[in-house]
Amino acid sequence: MQAVDAVIRQRLHSDVLLVRQIAEYIIAGGGKRLRPALLLLTAGALGYRGVHHHELAAVVEFIHTATLLHDDVVDESALRRGRETANAHFGNAASVLVGDFLYSRAFQMMVGVGQMRVMQVLADATNIIAEGEVMQLMNCHNADLSVEDYLQVVRYKTAKLFEASARLGAILGGAGAALEENLAAYGMHLGTAFQIADDVLDYSGREEELGKSLGDDLAEGKPTLPLIHVMQNGNPEQAAVVRSALEHGGREAFPEVIRAVRETGALDAALEVARGEAARANDALATLPHSQYREALLQLATFAVARRY
Ligand code: IPE
Ligand code: IPE
Ligand code: MG
Ligand code: MG
Repeated sequence: MQAVDAVIRQRLHSDVLLVRQIAEYIIAGGGKRLRPALLLLTAGALGYRGVHHHELAAVVEFIHTATLLHDDVVDESALRRGRETANAHFGNAASVLVGDFLYSRAFQMMVGVGQMRVMQVLADATNIIAEGEVMQLMNCHNADLSVEDYLQVVRYKTAKLFEASARLGAILGGAGAALEENLAAYGMHLGTAFQIADDVLDYSGREEELGKSLGDDLAEGKPTLPLIHVMQNGNPEQAAVVRSALEHGGREAFPEVIRAVRETGALDAALEVARGEAARANDALATLPHSQYREALLQLATFAVARRY
């Protein structure tokens, strides 16, 4: 990952001071670098020996970082990676514009790699992510959202980039069509598990560990899986608490909602769905030859659900 971080630092360059400041601010905040890891591990599992993997790993991290800059503006979030969000520190306008810079820098870099399949995968992924964020916006304050509609947003906004990262590793590694689809499926299920766990952590994490504020989803009126569980399985009183909180948004009802979530076992129920996705992710690795890379991919699926940050 050091080699990827070196590429990231190098490619962040801009002559515009504010671009450099914001891009370096969010990148220096750290982050788990999961999407680059996914690309490197899938390529490694196939014995890739070429020169493009670090560059493409940086590309997926740039796309991820651009979505975070935009997402924190949309979600009005104040904390990310244990420090003030870029929007809190530099303002919304600058964050959105530097998000655009990172997106377009990622496209410059992938053009440099010069493989049409690679560009196709990343162009499609970024387009789907944008649709997912818009669908999520449309779903805000909808207390009747179905699990299926929730999962579609998750697959679009989050799992798609995991899928693309794993697929790129497969393409670099010269996988045949069937193995490429299996690795893509692994990424998709892993990303779905990861986002469901994220939605659980928004109610159950510790801010110091998570590096993000709790309750952001409720504040925005986002119907995530724990709340859908309360709506569908809680008693009328518990459901009414959640319905009202979702419809009004804000943080006032957070303690009451937490109580309803706890009483109905909604976090465990959501994590059970996440564990199912993680298991499906690992099943998709069945045809991948055994190696330390494959082991690491299997462990990643466990981490996606068990994580506290
Ligand atoms: C945050 O992703 C956005 C989600 C998809 C939940 P990560 O949790 O991977 O963010 P960093 O890069 O580690 O900060
Ligand atoms: C993930 O959703 C956003 C992206 C895929 C960009 P969240 O809004 O839950 O992510 P966090 O919790 O802000 O990291
Ligand atoms: Mg957010
Ligand atoms: Mg979240």
